[in-house]
Amino acid sequence: MARFIFVMGLFCLICQARASGNDTYDNHTLIRLYPTSDDNLQAASHFEDPSGEVEVLKESRGLNDTLDLLVPPQKLQFVEDYAKIKNLKLEVKQPNYGRTLEDVAERTPRRRLLKSFNIYEYNSYANMLEFMETVARRFPDLVTLQNLGKSYEGRKMNLVKISSNPNAGNPIIFVDGGIHGREWVAPAMALYLIHRLSSEPANRRSGGELDGVDWYILPLVNPDGYEYTRSSKSNRMWRKTRSKHTENDCYGVDGNRNYGFKWGVSGISHDPCHKETFAGPRPFSEPETQMVRNVMMDNKKNMKLYVSLHSYGQYLVYPWGYTGEILPKEWKRLDNMARVVSQAVVKAGGLPFKVMSAGKWYPAAGGSDDFAFGGAGIPYSYTMELTDGYEFTFPESRLRNTLPTFYEGFKSFGSQIKKEFGHQRKKRELAQGY
Ligand code: ARG
Ligand code: ZN
Repeated sequence: MARFIFVMGLFCLICQARASGNDTYDNHTLIRLYPTSDDNLQAASHFEDPSGEVEVLKESRGLNDTLDLLVPPQKLQFVEDYAKIKNLKLEVKQPNYGRTLEDVAERTPRRRLLKSFNIYEYNSYANMLEFMETVARRFPDLVTLQNLGKSYEGRKMNLVKISSNPNAGNPIIFVDGGIHGREWVAPAMALYLIHRLSSEPANRRSGGELDGVDWYILPLVNPDGYEYTRSSKSNRMWRKTRSKHTENDCYGVDGNRNYGFKWGVSGISHDPCHKETFAGPRPFSEPETQMVRNVMMDNKKNMKLYVSLHSYGQYLVYPWGYTGEILPKEWKRLDNMARVVSQAVVKAGGLPFKVMSAGKWYPAAGGSDDFAFGGAGIPYSYTMELTDGYEFTFPESRLRNTLPTFYEGFKSFGSQIKKEFGHQRKKRELAQGY
């Protein structure tokens, strides 16, 4: 009986696709595939749809870790067959996926009437900029904004620098978020980090989060892509930038394949129409990735940690990302720091992170994490995939309970960096006798 209903379900999906066209996700099905035994682990991390119609939302890594696919009606059979042949467990997580997406356009006017900024919401980029300016005005002795330039579509990009002693030569922690448009929880977390670091007086005191460490935060690397995902439900799954490099109708570059370290060697597409992983016509073709690179290069002497916020899957991964074959010789300290961070998040009531090298999860070259580590020489570099279980639509109502758990992870990052690098300068100065 259950099987009969499932088959009927597929049939109806096909009807709807014919009736309504294919430009929204309304008729797509969210499907999870996963290996339940050791012999087919590869199949879940090497899925590919030659037609490009199936969207890979998340790759699998290991047993019971799901490969999440957004499947249009005409591809359901293909995915079912793949699961059968490769002996993967198949779960239909959500039929009619697009109908569960919230229509941002609908709720914006109501929110605007309220006027005040809510840190536990998915804010527009305009609101985010306003928030940054407000924070800088409110705490002028602590927070400064550095204008980095403009996104492809001309949006202003501000780096938020939080320091209680900018001339001390403190180690710098650089956090960015939202290089991928649809990953809304990433900029929300970056803003929350700014909020907590700047507004709590205890942070400035001896032993506080701002004592001996400077924080540089770029909350939204890809504002064009982000605003595009807010413009309509059918654009909600956009990942790339919004630049144009061809004569045809295809837009955007995957910012996290665009960095100039081992550019193009794995996990990328050279096709500008590829919706997920087009690496760009050349490394650093995007103004957004150039700006992040410049922040790293201009501060490389003191920058000791880089964290790039993404979603989803609850992973905390370190270089190399371009390959799963080799690890940097310093991998053990990268691994250790990540595990301590994960424990801090768990202690605060959050989920543990899966810690490994990015390339062991799945190889992909041109990521910001590899560039930070290999190109700019920042000794600790991570990609943090926030949240699990809600794909790219982590419910807004859960931000209030979830963001504080990640903040504890950042506190742990901070204290570990302080411990290792905090008094380096002072020690050096003493040794040199002044
Ligand atoms: N989800 C991220 C992406 O696909 C993971 C990146 C990890 N880093 C890497 N260099 N592969 O961009
Ligand atoms: Zn991402």
